Amino acid sequence: MSGPATAPDAGLEVLFQEVSRGLGGPRKTLPPKLFYDARGARLFVEITRLEEYYPTRTELGILEHCLPEVARQVGPRARVVEFGSGSGEKTWKLLEALEDPAACIPIDIAREQLLDFARTIRAEHPGMRVEPLHTDYTRPYRLPWPDTGDGRTLFFFPGSTVGNFEPEEAARFLGNMADAGDGDSLLLLGVDLEKPARVVEPAYNDEAGVTAAFNRNALRNLNALLGADFDPEAFEHRAPWNPEESRIEMHLVSRRDQTVMVPHPGGDPALEVPFQAGDVIVTEHSYKYDRERLARLVAAGGWTARQTWTDERDWFAVQLLERG
Ligand code: AVI
Repeated sequence: MSGPATAPDAGLEVLFQEVSRGLGGPRKTLPPKLFYDARGARLFVEITRLEEYYPTRTELGILEHCLPEVARQVGPRARVVEFGSGSGEKTWKLLEALEDPAACIPIDIAREQLLDFARTIRAEHPGMRVEPLHTDYTRPYRLPWPDTGDGRTLFFFPGSTVGNFEPEEAARFLGNMADAGDGDSLLLLGVDLEKPARVVEPAYNDEAGVTAAFNRNALRNLNALLGADFDPEAFEHRAPWNPEESRIEMHLVSRRDQTVMVPHPGGDPALEVPFQAGDVIVTEHSYKYDRERLARLVAAGGWTARQTWTDERDWFAVQLLERG
């Protein structure tokens, strides 16, 4: 970054304000994007391979059988825009299934992983335009629109990441996507469906403690980004199911009375956050949708389902949506 040494980085200033609001309120929260530095991105890949974490495996199984039909409906020379491409395994499968895709715009907050993925698909699809976008897509973003002729735009939002937004934000996010495309854009959306707590809770409380490390990584990342002095081990991971809200809540519970300092990036007074033993920071919500709420969500976002695929246990849904 250029500029005088005292000028605060605009991104860090925004993060500091978000963190101040989140930790300053009566119910302490941190934004889930803090999980995803390079270490967090690796931990998330580990999570997706855990026995207890059913969503990735289940969604991949559904994609295996629905992608030929998706490809037929999308047609040739599509422009694929993927939000939260992560390790790219699913995008990979999608690109393999599509007929001669013209462009791919993977978007992610985890930079190294995004650039690695872009390099690999460039090598694998030499005729396709690849325009990775490193950004926090929970904030306003601008898409690069390579001119690729008259193929359709296919938005791809797998993994049930839509469940990490509050429902109103999720509708807004899907609505922005609808506005960013044109009348014949399609959206392929992956959504985790509601199921018994005995299945959901272990997925977020794995025996090996990978999800616990992923959760605490938000604090490590905050220390690295803003110079905060969280001791991640002074917080215990918990992930209870909230049946009233149909969501898993990722919590970090203070193991003792402690005070944490978060310095202001521009040198203004630091944020001082007192914790008593047992105080909770909510780091993530992971909503699970039933069919009715899912239909309401996509309609509120300006989309209608063309086709829905699920697994035989009805645990996860993949929907192909069109505008309107
Ligand atoms: C990225 N997202 C869909 C994951 C989920 O299941 O909500 C994030 C995650 N949090 C804990 N484990 C996985």
